[in-house]
Amino acid sequence: MTTPDLTDVHPAWLPPEAFRAIGSRRTLVLGDGPLVETVRAEVAQACARYDGTVAAPGDEADLVLALTTATPLPPAAQALLDEPADAASGAATGAASGTASGAASGAASGAVGGLGDEGYVLARLGGVTVVLADAPAGLLYGLFHVVRLGEQAFGADRPARAHRPAMRRRMLDHWDNIDVHPVMGQVERGYSGGSIFWRDGAAAGDLTRVRAYARLLAATGVNAISVNNVNVHATEAHLLTDRLGDVAAIADAVRPYGIRVHLSVNFASPIALGGLATADPLDEDVRAWWAATTERVYATIPDFGGYVVKADSEGQPGPFAYGRTHADGANLLAGVLAPYGGVVHWRAFVYNHRQDWRDRSTDRARAAFDHFAPLDGQFHDNAIVQVKHGPLDFQTREPVSPVIAAMPATRLAVELQVTQEYTGQQRHVCYLAPMWREVLGFRPWGQDGPDVAALATGGQAVSRSLADGGRPADGGGLADGGGLVAVSNVGDDRYWTGHPLAQANLYAFGRLAWVPGLDPTALLDEWIGLTFAAGPDREALGRTLHEMMDGSWRTYERYTAPLGVGFMVRPGHHYGPDVDGYEYTPWGTYHFADRDGVGVDRTRATGTGYTGQYPQPWSEVYESLDTCPDELLLFFHHVPYGHVLQSGSTVIQHIYDTHFAGAEQAAQTRLRWEKAEGLVDPALWARVKERLDEQVRSAEEWRDQVNAYFFRKSGVPDAHGRRIH
Ligand code: GCU
Repeated sequence: MTTPDLTDVHPAWLPPEAFRAIGSRRTLVLGDGPLVETVRAEVAQACARYDGTVAAPGDEADLVLALTTATPLPPAAQALLDEPADAASGAATGAASGTASGAASGAASGAVGGLGDEGYVLARLGGVTVVLADAPAGLLYGLFHVVRLGEQAFGADRPARAHRPAMRRRMLDHWDNIDVHPVMGQVERGYSGGSIFWRDGAAAGDLTRVRAYARLLAATGVNAISVNNVNVHATEAHLLTDRLGDVAAIADAVRPYGIRVHLSVNFASPIALGGLATADPLDEDVRAWWAATTERVYATIPDFGGYVVKADSEGQPGPFAYGRTHADGANLLAGVLAPYGGVVHWRAFVYNHRQDWRDRSTDRARAAFDHFAPLDGQFHDNAIVQVKHGPLDFQTREPVSPVIAAMPATRLAVELQVTQEYTGQQRHVCYLAPMWREVLGFRPWGQDGPDVAALATGGQAVSRSLADGGRPADGGGLADGGGLVAVSNVGDDRYWTGHPLAQANLYAFGRLAWVPGLDPTALLDEWIGLTFAAGPDREALGRTLHEMMDGSWRTYERYTAPLGVGFMVRPGHHYGPDVDGYEYTPWGTYHFADRDGVGVDRTRATGTGYTGQYPQPWSEVYESLDTCPDELLLFFHHVPYGHVLQSGSTVIQHIYDTHFAGAEQAAQTRLRWEKAEGLVDPALWARVKERLDEQVRSAEEWRDQVNAYFFRKSGVPDAHGRRIH
């Protein structure tokens, strides 16, 4: 096994320099198994570059990476193992606060014990840095922890600390097509070139790139990928059967990095592929077809992860056609996957996309809850209901989906969107970790209850917060969590993500899935430290990148759709402003602006009743104009332009002010980058500069269209007399 080498591709957060600290020392790797071989190969490659040594058992070593089962262990590792496992190992799984947000890094002495499949202990004792893991994957994650620490891993002694992932499954979904789709292209909502898996109707062939991707993901903690679009078109449906070999090849490429492969499948496969007359989930022949097909999948890929299904959503087939429920559909697949330990990710993104805009009673935001909440308790244990973090569709600002709090007896996965469909399409700088942190830290039952991260973690994390006095919804036992999933932003682009700075989002996703409580600024620091490890003036570059990126999500929010109202993008491709673009369409995404006011009335009192889908206190907080947070005001209320926000500004003046400010901040961001010329590789600098030029242009376009639109509707002039067209 050798580590993948790609000369023309940017190394992202694993440049050779990031391995200098390890590569220039003596490292002993103890244990067996393919993932341990991966660790050995990584260490060997670093040592070859930086003159270090791969130590043999019995040799002196600066770093020991060992399985707890390896014998004999060197003295430092044995000492760590022999320490009594006391309260420490409990601390290792969670935070005292009783939420998963702080989970995964427990301070501990004697922390070894029950590290699980992926956990590890890291310590430095008497000048030796030790990583111990019960299982090979833990050793791999421990290695990458040492990489993140760099020289710091070899400084003063550090007490033993156990690290376990908060989420059991940390997954990226690829919306990649095999055939180039006539509208969506090779990668649906992809802004980074083609697919790394598929090209022009076939498998991409050389899998070096896929292996390099797996390596990058392992360094962030991601352990699962799905390799094709959730909209499963005709060609892609065959991945389940006659094209399964292509999936197996990908699985082989990513397995050495602890990553399992999942597949998006078409619910109507028994008809399309099996020649049956029906795909009814309760039909015996349908079940038999899925069982036989799944058996073949596991015979080919024994560690296959499972299926991802988008059913009865935006035209995809599903159980509704047979008068069955989503639980019937999901349980059919869960049932055939169960003997092999597989799971089905069943997406809750179900709504009427053929709505009549004249009909004010239908509210798309309500749909997922209305469809899924009544089914709580009906899904099998290995059926994971995958819920988008907001009720609409990955907008720049949405409230947290009420479904996440409504299904305590169901395994729920929370779905984020790393690909920047609605957040600048990797032409705009938009660092999304601050948004994700807000989502993961949201507490549906108020301050004393579990947060979203705990709910996605499930079981233990939720009951810990119950013990702390939280109030999850009534009924049912508490299900294990389904973890965190995100739509990947990667393509075959030289920088992986089109915009080089969008790499930070991919990095942050994996890290947050492991430790949901991580601070976005600290995470960005980590990413900068690794990615630009070899730069000439790292401090100056770090400052610049923080200035450009820390607040970039809020900057993007300022110059796009105001106060949580969402959309206002060009229909179809979703880039750039078009205030009324979706207003008279069937898609259910409206802002209802007229001459008097704007916003969607989702209250119980006078609107669609959506606020009632939240438990207390949020159902009240959102219902009342007095307490609804400004940033979500137009998501929940229709208000006059003169309505005074909690900030003290009127809605109309807020729109003008934020749009002028946002476009100005985009220009500042570009200026900062211009001054950073020379601090990074010239080609990377030029790529970012070209994107910033577009961002500034686009931000001005947003500013001018949104401001002009609301000026024309309301007739209210800007208090500061600035130019509105
Ligand atoms: C959005 C996106 C689609 C995608 C869908 C989904 O609507 O625009 O391209 O298929 O989400 O999540 O399934």
